[in-house]
Amino acid sequence: MPHFSLFSPLRLGAHQLSHRVVMAPLTRMRAQQPGNIPGEVNARYYAQRASVGGLLVTEATQISQRGQGYPATPGIHSSEQIAGWRLVTDGVHAKGGLIFLQLWHVGRISHRSHQPDGRLPLAPSAVKPAGDALTASWEKAPFETPREVGLDEIPSLVGEYRGAASNALAAGFDGVELHAANGYLLDQFLRDGTNRRTDRYGGSFENRARLLLEVLDAVGEVFGLNRVGIRLSPLGTFNDMRDSDPVGIFSHVLRALAKRSIAYVHLIEARGDERALDEGLPLDSGAAPTAALFRPFYPGVLIGAGGFTCESADEALAAGTVDAVAFGRLFISNPDLPLRLKLDAELNSYDRTTFYGGAAQGYTDYATLEDLRASESQVSELIVELAIDQIGLSKRPQDVFLQCLRQIFARNILGGVASVDWEVVRLLKTRH
Ligand SMILES: Cc1cc2nc3c(=O)[nH]c(=O)nc-3n(C[C@H](O)[C@H](O)[C@H](O)COP(=O)(O)O)c2cc1C
Repeated sequence: MPHFSLFSPLRLGAHQLSHRVVMAPLTRMRAQQPGNIPGEVNARYYAQRASVGGLLVTEATQISQRGQGYPATPGIHSSEQIAGWRLVTDGVHAKGGLIFLQLWHVGRISHRSHQPDGRLPLAPSAVKPAGDALTASWEKAPFETPREVGLDEIPSLVGEYRGAASNALAAGFDGVELHAANGYLLDQFLRDGTNRRTDRYGGSFENRARLLLEVLDAVGEVFGLNRVGIRLSPLGTFNDMRDSDPVGIFSHVLRALAKRSIAYVHLIEARGDERALDEGLPLDSGAAPTAALFRPFYPGVLIGAGGFTCESADEALAAGTVDAVAFGRLFISNPDLPLRLKLDAELNSYDRTTFYGGAAQGYTDYATLEDLRASESQVSELIVELAIDQIGLSKRPQDVFLQCLRQIFARNILGGVASVDWEVVRLLKTRH
């Protein structure tokens, strides 16, 4: 069944999208070293996934060295990184696509080995996350208790976001998305499991939302608020997150965002929590319960994400709980995902072992439909040649016969051509 609603246009702040299939932010840990600089291979990856009027959100990108938490993630705080990202934005724009940069500070999820001065990572409060960090040398090491960021340091933190946004503008991005989800710095300030402060950045909903809104205003001064989106995971538990009243704090945040004309809010469904993804759990793919819960607080453009299929995306769009849907893992393995969904074509499956780190394998080598069709016609030619050899076929076989031949070959693919029962093929030929 064709899927029309995902393919209707959408006004997204300052931009006009021609469809609603968004590429979700996806960390792939393939930035050039040293310097965490995007390069040609990254530019190819994003250009492959661009479509006319389609929105891509980049992988999370650290706003400063202090904000890094994993090896080989790209940054947006050096002139080399700006130049590297320019390759990416040029490639996406050449295909008529739009691209937002996801701005990231991991807070307590970092490790000393990523810190410029070897100091402890910073966080709203000295609350240690359960689990392990991934060090600069790709080793697991237990998280340490972070140091509480001083009140006097907060303006420079906000300044890091502002600087990163200016760099993103210089690199040619169409907008930025603030990563305030999945247990990273801005999320750590929002939730009371990680924010125990007693100053104006802790305690009440208003205080806990203060840093996010200050960062939003700073970044908005650079790009205009209508080119800024925000990603939230209100019910997510990844990175050891919790809150005593998630509906309370996140409905407060959404109400505050509704008063500002930002480009969009991007909500992660609880089922699409990265913990579930890490453990490879099957996700229930129903419509959008998290978005349905929070929709009443936010009338603007809402992008849903987490475990969506084409069908559940359509359902959520039809119900009005989301306005667009971001796909993550399916975009990893299907560079031409919007086209495939539009044609209701078969999807490539993804290889989890190549999600993080490495080079082109599992990154830029997933086939497009066009590649598959080209190789299919090559296979047909090969089959015809083999059949001519073996049974003296004199003219191009009819389609039905070709189909049968294909099936025989598919079944014998492991045993090789030698195991094909040519008597069966001969028999088939007499019938067609
Ligand atoms: C390999 C991988 C990397 C991810 N990196 C990020 C990231 O950098 N920023 C982010 O906000 N979410 C990240 N996510 C979460 C995805 O954006 C998305 O919410 C999640 O994959 C669920 O959507 P899906 O079911 O369509 O894959 C990542 C997920 C995966 C699988």
